[in-house]
Amino acid sequence: MNQQSVTFDERYRIGRKLVDELGPAQDTEPSTFELLGLEWDLVPGTYAPKPGTGTEYYTTAIPYPQGGSFLEIGCGAGVTAVWAALHGCAHVTATDVTVTAVASAELNVERHGVADRVHVQRSDVFADLDPDAKFDAIFWNCSVIEAPKDFEFTQDFEWAIFDPGYAALGRYLAEVHDRLLPGGRALVTFNSLGDASRVAELADEKGVTLSLVDSSTRVLAGEEVTYKVFEITRP
Ligand SMILES: C[S@@+](CC[C@H](N)C(=O)[O-])C[C@H]1O[C@@H](n2cnc3c(N)ncnc32)[C@H](O)[C@@H]1O
Repeated sequence: MNQQSVTFDERYRIGRKLVDELGPAQDTEPSTFELLGLEWDLVPGTYAPKPGTGTEYYTTAIPYPQGGSFLEIGCGAGVTAVWAALHGCAHVTATDVTVTAVASAELNVERHGVADRVHVQRSDVFADLDPDAKFDAIFWNCSVIEAPKDFEFTQDFEWAIFDPGYAALGRYLAEVHDRLLPGGRALVTFNSLGDASRVAELADEKGVTLSLVDSSTRVLAGEEVTYKVFEITRP
């Protein structure tokens, strides 16, 4: 799909379709799913990263600080955070704004035996973290569809798709460098379902540069999606 020709309303419609097709609203009991050759727990309301979602790709594509600390914002079921702990990170903090995602991530930390090095907590971007906490790498597989600024969330799963006015992403871009240890790296994802030109504007407004680290194209719910990982730098 040509990014330029897609309107806000069309993107929003695709976001609603993703909520309907990927959302677990019909599930009321915890379940499990498989990804990356492992089994994972899922509390209803949490984004289930099936094959084809960005999670599968990003989790194996991003650089992890070996022996260092890793913060995942918006951890969802905790796949990337657990993977980080299983692949060399000494300390992992996994956060999400929804309590259902926090509950799923806690189950997966236990299931994969990494509770000694993964701390899970609820946080709205950085707002609820210890004010002094800093990390060697920070990552967010963010919610890429812009919703109207006055959008009201009616189910936890919508948080995985929609960001009203890209306000949460704006806070991430503005604040991430204050949370890095010297030499640390700030990473964010974006994909072709979102509005790349708005994100470029947002990066300018926050005084940061987005540099492409890696990308991959896959099919998600019938839509061809190009997933991208960016490093965020501040001049
Ligand atoms: C695209 S999903 C990715 C979930 C998970 N990291 C994965 O890759 O499967 C985005 C996640 O960000 C969370 N999120 C959305 N807004 C947030 C905010 N303001 N603060 C923290 N997490 C947020 C959502 O609840 C969701 O779990």
